Amino acid sequence: MRGFRDRIAALTATVLLLVLMAVPFLWASRLDAQSGVKQIPVPPPPMGWSSWNSFSNTVNSQIILDEAKAMIDSGMAKAGYQYVNIDEGWWLGERDAQGNIVVPDKSWPALAAGEHAGDMGNIVRAIHALGLKAGIYTDAGMDGCSMYPDLGPAYQHTGSEGHYEQDFLQFAQWGFDYVKVDWCGGDKEKLDPAVQYAEIERAIEKAEVATGRRLYYSLCEWGKNNPWTWAPNVGGAPADIWRTSGDIVAPIVPHQKFSGRLASFPGVLSNFDQGVHPEAQHTGFYNDPDMMVVGMPGLTDAQNRVHMGLWAISGAPLLAGADLTTMSGATRATLTNADVLAVDQDTLGLQGVKAASDGEGLEVWSKALATAGERAVLLLNRTGDPAAITARWSDLGLDPNGSATVKDIWTGKELGSFPSGYSATVQPNDAMMVIVRGSEGRLNTYKPSGGTEVSKGHEVSFAQVSARVPMARVRITYSNPDKTPRYAELRVNGQIATRIAFPPTGSGNSLGAVWVEALVDRSGATNDLHFAAICDSGPTIESIAVE
Ligand code: GLA
Repeated sequence: MRGFRDRIAALTATVLLLVLMAVPFLWASRLDAQSGVKQIPVPPPPMGWSSWNSFSNTVNSQIILDEAKAMIDSGMAKAGYQYVNIDEGWWLGERDAQGNIVVPDKSWPALAAGEHAGDMGNIVRAIHALGLKAGIYTDAGMDGCSMYPDLGPAYQHTGSEGHYEQDFLQFAQWGFDYVKVDWCGGDKEKLDPAVQYAEIERAIEKAEVATGRRLYYSLCEWGKNNPWTWAPNVGGAPADIWRTSGDIVAPIVPHQKFSGRLASFPGVLSNFDQGVHPEAQHTGFYNDPDMMVVGMPGLTDAQNRVHMGLWAISGAPLLAGADLTTMSGATRATLTNADVLAVDQDTLGLQGVKAASDGEGLEVWSKALATAGERAVLLLNRTGDPAAITARWSDLGLDPNGSATVKDIWTGKELGSFPSGYSATVQPNDAMMVIVRGSEGRLNTYKPSGGTEVSKGHEVSFAQVSARVPMARVRITYSNPDKTPRYAELRVNGQIATRIAFPPTGSGNSLGAVWVEALVDRSGATNDLHFAAICDSGPTIESIAVE
């Protein structure tokens, strides 16, 4: 009798143990939080201002100083904007006998005692003295873009080809923190952007080692050569952004008021649409739909808010392009709204995706945020009539049976708690943007089919994976004991691979998690995910969890 009871007790314990072991694989997100796997914050997209949209080739020291000061006085710096970026037009293609860039004295005078004109270090010191960071611009080819007549004459040879190491070292020595590299010259010469931009990143790294300064890397080949397939981590960049479309405004045409600087709402929507490549946007790498035109001539205040909302839901770089010295109160409020900025800068680092469509032109965009159960949601009405649009919790990957609260980003009002979704009537060519706080939906956890270490010659593979939606969020639980990121590339179902950064997780085997979005597009449990090494040692990958 006793033996029978013991056997029952042992059986019950075994069943209990098996159930307990299975639970994490069913409700992984919540239990992972309990089991202490840290979500590793990734570098956010850059925030700042760039000279191009408002000043084109007329940029000079005074303009930059005024804009930098306006960034402080307007409260933008306090809200998180930090880069003051000098775009094309700052030099005229002249080099000295040693090949050093000759900076025009008149445009870039001395600003403090002991300085001399024609030294870009002057403006950098002034920007740094305001507590801001400074950005500079060049081209990967021989010529820059200002070959076409813009304001003033067309200058040749404003690119860095043939001088990569020299120029990027010079930028770092001047003290710059950010460099945008255009593609006009490269395009004209039919160079291979993946090769050139990797070469430039290596020059940047050398300059960083030589000076101890970090140069943030911004690639600008307008999406012509599908940069989202090769730009993440190009040349080993720890974080970078790449343009996904042409310019949001055309350059100034002389003697015509606002000509070329006129922003348009269709232009904003078009750049937004071309920037959607969620599979490439993760762990500090970002699609860049161009500098913003919020507050520029041609857009209403409501359209400015839609534009800002679209960039934030996309997790896009937020580089204001309006003249900050003359912007209206409404523009300032749009650019500095804390909730919209928090959506953009969220430490999960993912891009918003179209979660549902309520008919032609009625779209629900959703961005998963770092707090479990939180989504930023944009209800976008592209049609000419007011229309109801509904965000359903099931479409957002939230627990469909739980209720969620909704907060309007632009009014700041809590709208209440709703059982299965939220509906609003949205005006024509307008959007409503809200934060939804509910319960995280189900994730399925998978263990690798072989070993867990990504290294040369050894991939970590996951087979028979299924997903709720084709573009699915994937949480990767890994360890990296180093002090710097390790990298690996992820290939899903034989598609083009994407390079993922795995930031340090702490010493020993301590685990962390980063998120990606992947096209897990085969139906049923038939998808394959493979992590392969880029250099000798990659991360150790314990498991993945897929929505
Ligand atoms: C290209 C870029 C713009 C700007 C101009 C400068 O058109 O896309 O963002 O840098 O060049 O000429």
